[in-house]
Amino acid sequence: MDRWTGRVALVTGASVGIGASIAQKLVEGGMKVIGVARNFQAIADAAKKLEGAKGQLIPMKCDVTKEEDILKVFANIRKNYGGVDVLINNAGLAHDAPLLDPSSKTSDWKNMLDVNVLGIAICSREAYKSMKERGIDDGHIFNIGSMSGHRVIPSSKGHFYSATKFAVKAMTEGTRQELREAKSHIRVTHVSPGVVETEFAYRFTGPDSQTYKNLMALQAEDISSSVIHALTAPAHVEINDILIRPTEQSS
Ligand SMILES: NC(=O)c1ccc[n+]([C@@H]2O[C@H](COP(=O)([O-])OP(=O)(O)OC[C@H]3O[C@@H](n4cnc5c(N)ncnc54)[C@H](OP(=O)(O)O)[C@@H]3O)[C@@H](O)[C@H]2O)c1
Repeated sequence: MDRWTGRVALVTGASVGIGASIAQKLVEGGMKVIGVARNFQAIADAAKKLEGAKGQLIPMKCDVTKEEDILKVFANIRKNYGGVDVLINNAGLAHDAPLLDPSSKTSDWKNMLDVNVLGIAICSREAYKSMKERGIDDGHIFNIGSMSGHRVIPSSKGHFYSATKFAVKAMTEGTRQELREAKSHIRVTHVSPGVVETEFAYRFTGPDSQTYKNLMALQAEDISSSVIHALTAPAHVEINDILIRPTEQSS
């Protein structure tokens, strides 16, 4: 992590789960980490626990469905911390809203598009702008996708979610191509987890979800370790795609 010491990372969805674990690892590695989510207090509590670590966690409130919130975060980072060197596009969610079910809500589909797709597009555009204006040529963008961005499983609840994660996969490759076109050395990595034990399944299908009881799920730390692996690879190595399933997961 030496070359990242003192530099700035932005982690979306840093209040719980995978984002909280990534933020913690980056702080322990010496980075100044801006953690954003709607639940400001959860990040502020984590920041307190990390006092005395090599780096620092700075909480900011941001609903990524609101472009003005995202722009405010980038303006705040520019003013107080210089700019973003590493972006972790992690905020994401699923709603139980099958494609053909008459009770599926359009608002649920829009919310998934706003968080899982547009949130990533806006944050990536702003992070690239921030890197470019400071002449940063070794930045890194991570998009947390899903195994659901690689295949469509026969479970109607998640079909629209799956569509948004296919979009994340396409956006990651599109970003990579645009960076190469611009002769930039900024790297981009797509991380696709299988089942990870977080709040995700409870938010998706409710408190009675059995998802994490049916197999030995991954833990958030399994994903954050892979992020650190890709981030600390030598600058000439761009790890593009990481797929991680629990060993027991069949689909
Ligand atoms: N867990 C899994 O099995 C799994 C599998 C594959 C992929 N993933 C992906 O991994 C990523 C992280 O998920 P997780 O498992 O850590 O889920 P989680 O425990 O439910 O955490 C989701 C995070 O996203 C944030 N978020 C949701 N809506 C937001 C909004 N409008 N604005 C800002 N932040 C928002 C939440 O923060 P607030 O609620 O505080 O705003 C929270 O920090 C997601 O992209 C998810 O699709 C998860």
